[in-house]
Amino acid sequence: MKLARTLPDLHAALAELGPVGLVPTMGALHLGHLSLVAAARQAGRPVAASIFVNPLQFGPHEDLARYPRDEAGDLAQLRQAGCDLVWLPDVATMYPPEAASTITVGGPATLWEGAARPGHFAGVATVVAKLFGQVRPHAAYFGEKDWQQVQVIRRFTADFLLQVQIVPVPTVREADGLALSSRNRFLTPAERQAAPALYAALTEAAAAIGGGAAVDASLETAKGHVIAAGMQPDYLALVGAETLEPLERFTRPARLIAAARLGSVRLLDNVAVG
Ligand code: PAJ
Repeated sequence: MKLARTLPDLHAALAELGPVGLVPTMGALHLGHLSLVAAARQAGRPVAASIFVNPLQFGPHEDLARYPRDEAGDLAQLRQAGCDLVWLPDVATMYPPEAASTITVGGPATLWEGAARPGHFAGVATVVAKLFGQVRPHAAYFGEKDWQQVQVIRRFTADFLLQVQIVPVPTVREADGLALSSRNRFLTPAERQAAPALYAALTEAAAAIGGGAAVDASLETAKGHVIAAGMQPDYLALVGAETLEPLERFTRPARLIAAARLGSVRLLDNVAVG
């Protein structure tokens, strides 16, 4: 597995490998990230992963400083997963002092996570566009765990006619349903026990809505379950799967999305409907 920490090293490695599939990450890797590497390998091309904790996508009061970092552990996992190249840029490489442009995102970026975290998706789109420019991948792999993020990336990739295929990969979960996340390590044992209630509430509501139950009542029931488990829901909504706009009645394609606070952690999850 090749490592690159500077643009000349990256381009030398890419010249040897040829076109790659790209798995962008912020490190602290778990089996969810590794499933993206596995999906990329299935395309039969070399795989590059990037590790960069992107300051631009964190708000001033968010957890940038405590975001978990474990480069040695990440590299061992990527090697084991059959990754061919790891791109490890520093902040000055991604955001040199003369840099003056960022991407503005609208549409699916304006709601939900976009409303809760102003500037977040602009930061994501900007760093992903830079990674695409640096690595020039034929395809890039993103987790459905962050459903809205995938739709935002699809939108700007199409808007700027970027020649990168965006491939969504299903969410990897613990045996009890909790979606794997780098932030789960901050849950206390009691919170960890309560956390699967979010996915349970979403799957129950998705089955009800898909089976014809009233949307409003189903969402209220689901929120009740989440609150009963000790979480504060930020939102729990039925949305158009690509537009992220709220749906009053079930029409395809639809997704149930939710964010809920549990102790110091904000849990995100989503499921398909119908
Ligand atoms: P990060 O949170 O490190 O996630 C990297 C990728 O792993 C994302 O595409 C995310 O959706 C995916 N992922 C996380 N948990 C997953 C799970 N349980 N199952 C499947 N995939 C999962 O998302 C980011 O980083 C950043 O915003 C990034 C796209 C790298 C831009 O900075």
